Amino acid sequence: MLVSAKDMLTKAKAGKYAVGQFNINNLEWTKSILLTAQELQSPVILGVSEGAGKYMTGFKTVAAMVDAMVDSLGITVPVALHLDHGTYEGAKACIEAGFSSIMFDGSHYPIDENIAKTKELVAICNEKGISLEAEVGAIGGEEDGVIGKGECADPAECKAIADLGVTMLAAGIGNIHGKYPDNWEGLSFETLDAIQKLTGDMPLVLHGGTGIPADMIKKAISLGVAKINVNTECQLAFQEATRKYIEEGKDLQGKGFDPRKLLAPGAEAIKATVKEKMELFGSVGKA
Ligand code: 13P
Repeated sequence: MLVSAKDMLTKAKAGKYAVGQFNINNLEWTKSILLTAQELQSPVILGVSEGAGKYMTGFKTVAAMVDAMVDSLGITVPVALHLDHGTYEGAKACIEAGFSSIMFDGSHYPIDENIAKTKELVAICNEKGISLEAEVGAIGGEEDGVIGKGECADPAECKAIADLGVTMLAAGIGNIHGKYPDNWEGLSFETLDAIQKLTGDMPLVLHGGTGIPADMIKKAISLGVAKINVNTECQLAFQEATRKYIEEGKDLQGKGFDPRKLLAPGAEAIKATVKEKMELFGSVGKA
């Protein structure tokens, strides 16, 4: 059964570790992430962007697939199915489709509009027992074709959104989606500390988990980050393993093309990436 992310994040914040959100694109990715979480006895959040949802033929398909897979694989660790960077309409569609967690990214709206829309969704999510992530201060880089500039969120605006009763808050602290450029200045711990002081127990979310050095990840967790999103690193691992397999020409021998064999090395590479992240985030054995 899919669960809200509320309990796992409350525990993570109190226990000073973070739960990983790993984005899914297809059946193989979902299976790899679920099996790794189960093996490591770690809670896990499966992220779905609106683009990935469309690719998989819609949010209803995704919810049905993940729900059935949790059951068929005998997964007993807590699993939340979460919309990543949702629009207002996308958030409502995922609530209808059976997602157990939603992100509404209103960071590009003026703060008053972000507050008004987030408030409406808080009421709907509370009624249905669904966790809700809000965002203040755009995360840099490109996410599913949407380009945002790296920003540091205003701590007072973070408090205004946190006070609406959201489950978790994503705040820009200089983080960027995708690979970090060579001249990246690093995370702004000053901003993170100021946000944490004003928002208290609110679990904070760190987007752009790919390529942040381990010491910065640990410091961010010590300052209140309880959820870390990783996408690009799984994509790169999948791509590299698949490329290598094709170059070796293995799939071209014998009986010919077999999609199950072709996708297997990529699926294994995702398992290894997820394991490494869960160990770094400290969520192993916390299910
Ligand atoms: P990366 O693609 O940089 O790992 O970021 C993922 C993310 O933040 C999804 O919301």
